[in-house]
Amino acid sequence: MKLIVFSLDDNAVLHQAIVKQLGAESGNLIMRCFPDGESYVRILSDCANKAVILIDSLYQPDTKIMPLLFTVQLLRDMGAKKINLVAPYLGYMRQDKAFNPGEAVTSRYFAQLVSTHFDGLLTVDPHLHRYNSLNEIYSIPARAIPAAPLLADWISQQVKSPLLIGPDSESEQWVSRIAALAKAPYVILQKQRYGDREVKISIPAIQSWPAYAPVLIDDIISSGHTMAETIKHLKHLHMPAPICMAVHAIFAADAYQLLQQAGAAQIVTTNTVLHPSNAIDVAAALVAQLKEQKSERK
Ligand code: R5P
Repeated sequence: MKLIVFSLDDNAVLHQAIVKQLGAESGNLIMRCFPDGESYVRILSDCANKAVILIDSLYQPDTKIMPLLFTVQLLRDMGAKKINLVAPYLGYMRQDKAFNPGEAVTSRYFAQLVSTHFDGLLTVDPHLHRYNSLNEIYSIPARAIPAAPLLADWISQQVKSPLLIGPDSESEQWVSRIAALAKAPYVILQKQRYGDREVKISIPAIQSWPAYAPVLIDDIISSGHTMAETIKHLKHLHMPAPICMAVHAIFAADAYQLLQQAGAAQIVTTNTVLHPSNAIDVAAALVAQLKEQKSERK
């Protein structure tokens, strides 16, 4: 079956890499907002009897979900066959529990919505904390590729004597893997969150690593407060300014400036979300996984 690839966001690097490496057609569509905020979608390519990949990085998902659902529905009306979603960043993964009575477990509802419309999902390092895998909430084949090897390569090539630091217990799964690959030591801090933008970090015996270059690692930088608070503590302990690394460059509002002002030596992210801090390209890893899935289907 012929394959056509559409991108619903402006990450041309990922779109072009997937089209080229899979020998696929590049899909053409027009998407815009009417003055009242409603979405307009028009597909200009012939999609009948083709397999489709839709690329859409789902940060700020509330603004993206309607155009995405309209597009997938339109594709089906135009005769497209299998439709897979490639969401380099998968939103709505962090509310994985009702912390207070009456709270919506939105990760589950979002997964149900996406599973209803798509035939498969591919993403990079989803925030799996209380879930062991995406398949606990997604009823379609849902795969996740790890960014750890890419972050480890960057650290090995760019940082002399790195000490990897995870800001909270949730980050240990990423930090420990990167540390093993980069053959670097790591410590995990303790974080208490008091609100969306209020966190407190404690640092166990970090002073015992004076000759090392601190590298803070997290899956997501959103408000930036987790990292900014950690930088403050490192400063207080007279540690060198750290490199701040994250897989997903969400950077809500002024988070990027907040980290720069807090004293980050460098801020490094992957291009799952387009941002000036992108220094690590996930395109080859996504393509490798898509090729594997293609050969499994043969
Ligand atoms: C939390 O569980 C995540 O791994 C990150 O630590 C968190 O999302 C970062 O958020 P913020 O930048 O808003 O502190």
